[in-house]
Amino acid sequence: MTTASLPALHPMLQEFLGRRVHKLLIDGRAVEASSGRTFATLNPATGQTLGIVAEADAADVDRAVACARAALSGPWSKMSPAEREKILHKAADLIEARAEAFAQLESLDNGKVIREAKSGDLPLSVALFRYYGGWPTKLHGETTPVSVPYYPGAKFLHYTVREPVGVVGAIIPWNFPLLMAVERLAPALACGNTVILKPAEQTPLSALWLGELLLEAGVPPGVVNVLPGFGKTAGAAIAAHMGVDKVTFTGSTATGREVLKASAGNMKRVTMELGGKSPNIVFADADMEAAARGMFMGIFYNQGQTCSAGSRVFIERPAHEKLLSALAERAKTIRMGNPLDPKMHMGPLVSDQQRRRVLSYIDSGKAEGAQLLTGGAAAPGEGFFVQPTVFGGVKDGMKIAREEIFGPVVSVFAFDSVDEVLERANATDYGLVAAVWTKDVKKAHLAAAKLKAGTVWINCYQFVDAAAPWGGVKQSGYGREKGPWALENYTSLKSVWVDLNA
Ligand code: NAI
Ligand code: MG
Repeated sequence: MTTASLPALHPMLQEFLGRRVHKLLIDGRAVEASSGRTFATLNPATGQTLGIVAEADAADVDRAVACARAALSGPWSKMSPAEREKILHKAADLIEARAEAFAQLESLDNGKVIREAKSGDLPLSVALFRYYGGWPTKLHGETTPVSVPYYPGAKFLHYTVREPVGVVGAIIPWNFPLLMAVERLAPALACGNTVILKPAEQTPLSALWLGELLLEAGVPPGVVNVLPGFGKTAGAAIAAHMGVDKVTFTGSTATGREVLKASAGNMKRVTMELGGKSPNIVFADADMEAAARGMFMGIFYNQGQTCSAGSRVFIERPAHEKLLSALAERAKTIRMGNPLDPKMHMGPLVSDQQRRRVLSYIDSGKAEGAQLLTGGAAAPGEGFFVQPTVFGGVKDGMKIAREEIFGPVVSVFAFDSVDEVLERANATDYGLVAAVWTKDVKKAHLAAAKLKAGTVWINCYQFVDAAAPWGGVKQSGYGREKGPWALENYTSLKSVWVDLNA
C-alpha cells in the first residue's frame, strides 16, 4: 500500500465537513433527530470519524412523511412542467460546478478512489439530472378509441393522464452514495413526486449535501427530505409507512425481501435493485487485450463493491491459462492507497464489517481448495483495505462461486462449449448483468438471447447511461431504473372517460 501527499480539500467541502453535526433535512430545514441521537460516519481509508450525523428513526420518518404529503399539494404541485425542468437543470449545473468537492466527499465517506468518483459517479449524476430535466414537458397521456359493447354506436372521449405516485421512499446503499440518490431523485422529481431519501448509514454525507443543493436549485421545502439512519429503524419505518406510496430499494437481496414484506401493509409500489453474481464470459476468439481490461474493470471497479461486479469469469479452455495469469499479473500492478490520491487505482472497502465479510469469503475459497493466484488478505495498516484477489480453479459449487462477495475477489472458471458456459452462467439465483467477449457476431447475439440478465454487455463491461434501462431478473430484483422506463415507476396512469352522447 502506498501513502502519498494528498490534494487539499475543496473550500466548500471543508466548510461542510466542519459542521458539528450533520442534521436531518426535513421540510427544507436542518433538524436534530427527535431522539436527539447521532452516529458517526467513518473515513474507511483511516478508520477515523469523518462526521457526526443525526440519527433518524421512526418518529422522524413520521415527521418527514407528513411534510412530504403536505408538499404534494403545495407550490411543487402548482409549478408548470417547464418550471420543474428549469429546477432539475439547475440542480445538474450546481452539481457540475461542485463536482470536485462532491467527488472528494464521496471518496472520504465511501473510500472510492477519486479518479473513479470524478469520471463515473459525478458525470453520471449530472447526466441523470439533465436527462430527467427534459422529461416534465414530455410526460403526457394519450387518447384512446374506446368502444363499449353494451352501448352500440356510443361516442366517448377517452384519455389518460400521468400523475405523480405521491410520496416516494428511497432506500439506497453505500456503494455509489450520490449516484444512487440522484438516480431516484431525478425521475421522481421529474414526475412531480415528493421524496423521503434514506442514505446508507456508512455514507450519509453526500445525500445531505445534495438535499441542500436541491433547495438552492429551487425545489420547494418538504419535497426532498433526507433522513440518515439505520436500516432496522429508519429504513424499516419507511418501508412500512402507510403514508409512503412507493418504495425504491437498492441493496442486498435479503434486505430487499424484508422491505418487500414491510411494504405490503398499504400495497406500496416497489422496485428492487438487488445483488448479483454476474458472469463475464470470454471466448477464445475474443480480442484478448480488451477482454483482459474488461475482466479487470468488471471486478476491481469500486473495489468490487458493485451490484454488477463481474465476479464469475468464464474463460474458454484454449485461452484460459494465459488470460487467467494475465488477470492475476494485472491485479498485482494495482496501486492501492488513500483514495483521495489521484494516482490510486483502489481504495479501502466501505467498512470494517464489509472487510470482514469479504475476508471470510476469501478464507472459504482457500478452504474449499480454489487456487489463490494473487491477493488473499487484508492490507496491513489503518483503513479497511483488502488486496485485489484472483482465484483460479474454482468449482461451480464452491461458496465463492455462488454467493455475492461484494469485494475485490474474482472466481475464474474454464469452459469448453457455448451451451455449457451459458448453462453454467445462468445457474445462479441472480440475474443482474452478464458479459460476452467474442468477435463472432452470431455467438454474441446467441449468448445475449440466452443469458438470463437485465443487461448484457458485448465486448464491454460496466457501461451505464442515464438513457439505458437498469435492473435485474430473478433475485436481482425487478423494475427498471433509468431511461423512460423509470417514469413508469414514478407515475400512475389515470383513465378518464367522457360521455359524448346526446
Ligand atoms: P443492506 O441491503 O442491508 O443495506 C442497503 C440499505 O438498506 C441501507 O440504506 C440500509 O440502511 C437499508 N436497510 C437495511 N436493513 C433494512 C430494513 N430492514 N428495512 C429497510 N431498510 C433497510 O446492505 P449492507 O448490509 O450494507 O451490505 C450487505 C451486502 O449487501 C453486501 O455485502 C452486498 O452483498 C449487498 N449489497 C448490494 C448492493 C447493491 O448495489 N446491489 C449495495 C449494498 C450492499
Ligand atoms: Mg463513511
